[in-house]
Amino acid sequence: MSGSAITPWVVGNWKMNPMQAEAQALVSGFKKLLQKNEIKQEDCYLAVAPTLLALAEVQAQLADSVRAVYSVAQDVSAIAGTGAYTGEVSAELLVDHRIECVLIGHSERREIFAETPAMLNEKVKHALNAGLTVIYCVGESLAQRDNGQAEQVVLQQICDIAAVVTAQQWQKVVVAYEPIWAIGTGKTASPADAQAMHAKIRQGLTQITPFGPSMAILYGGSVKAENAVELAACPDINGALVGGASLTAESFYEIAQAFANTK
Ligand code: 13P
Repeated sequence: MSGSAITPWVVGNWKMNPMQAEAQALVSGFKKLLQKNEIKQEDCYLAVAPTLLALAEVQAQLADSVRAVYSVAQDVSAIAGTGAYTGEVSAELLVDHRIECVLIGHSERREIFAETPAMLNEKVKHALNAGLTVIYCVGESLAQRDNGQAEQVVLQQICDIAAVVTAQQWQKVVVAYEPIWAIGTGKTASPADAQAMHAKIRQGLTQITPFGPSMAILYGGSVKAENAVELAACPDINGALVGGASLTAESFYEIAQAFANTK
């Protein structure tokens, strides 16, 4: 117990996984683990981001778990409200369905779906205005890291949203640092490298908002039960955004426990 003042977040990003029956088994397995060995609410926020299709079902399944486990949307429209926008789901619709949190800026959205900073700013603005908590993802590519640009790229991504986040709304922003080269590759940033970047991010945030020192900064990129304890021990790593390892109830639970133990 190091007694960190920031409550950590452990968030499972299921991406385009799994099939319905596996999702149901995953949630029920996780609920059982929580029941057997409680992770206190005040020690760690827990959340899962299923596919949009599974979101309501997962939320319903989690409703009777022994503690709060938030359901997170993996994406939100850059357009607010309701209207003739085939395929889109707005922040207001998410809130109407009692979703409290959304991922924005994931590198897969930036790279594969060509989401630009301008689009991301629309998403961030509408999500925050609708009352959602935004988990805003940042991270550099391997080429950018090799060229010594990692810090500059990440801090720019943070600065990008400063144009649309109001003074009070920073309280509803969680940052997730996910170096692209560590996502799904089995390569994790070393705890020292991750901590160094997290400290820079905190410094950057603190220049932008008085909430900077108390904001949760999550690490993502091949987080697993085996490396979670080391990462959790770093003072500026306040949780994890977990991909692959969140698809197994046991490993996701162990990661959550590692972060909860830092409180
Ligand atoms: P992995 O944990 O599978 O590397 O994915 C990380 C990630 O992208 C979470 O958003």
